[in-house]
Amino acid sequence: MFCSGGGSNFKALHKHIQERNLPCQIVMCLSNHSQCGAMQFARENGIDAVHLSSKTVPSQEAFVQTMLAELEKRQVDLILLAGYMKSVPKAVIERYPKRILNIHPALLPKFGGEGMYGMNVHRAVIEAKEKESGATVHFVDEDYDKGEIIVQGKVAIASDETPESLAAKVLEVEHRLYIEALVQVLEKLG
Ligand code: GRF
Repeated sequence: MFCSGGGSNFKALHKHIQERNLPCQIVMCLSNHSQCGAMQFARENGIDAVHLSSKTVPSQEAFVQTMLAELEKRQVDLILLAGYMKSVPKAVIERYPKRILNIHPALLPKFGGEGMYGMNVHRAVIEAKEKESGATVHFVDEDYDKGEIIVQGKVAIASDETPESLAAKVLEVEHRLYIEALVQVLEKLG
């Protein structure tokens, strides 16, 4: 898992993987924030918490090599991004083709791309007077938020919807959706 925030998707995935006895294991949480909720959850649950940021490793080359080494050390097959606020280096994307997933809190291709993160997304959706929103799990390639879509889940937007209420509804969908996407990807990989 690559996370930068509270880690609610990470927690939901961790729970569902155990409950459903899926043939996979979360072996690390990598983050640019050593004390974020996701990293704390990892530590509390015996999952390696790897702090990697451009502040701790200023050279871009060393940063990429460290990231690859941390992944290889644990024989990582799939990388799931959940609220990871940094872009994944090109070399890592190339090393893991169709093996990096991301969850986005809107119905891509709408409301994706630069600046479209966190509450900005939900604000933009409401301002555009959309009737529905939702979440998207997609593969990560070099085109930000444009990789192949794996699965989407929708929510209706109420007439008095606020960005905050929409964010809460979408997050609930995310927690169900990410595990669905993971199951699909695992089935395809065999
Ligand atoms: C989610 O809304 C996700 O779609 C976005 O960042 C948020 C992460 O939330 N990319 P959490 O850290 O999983 O609670």
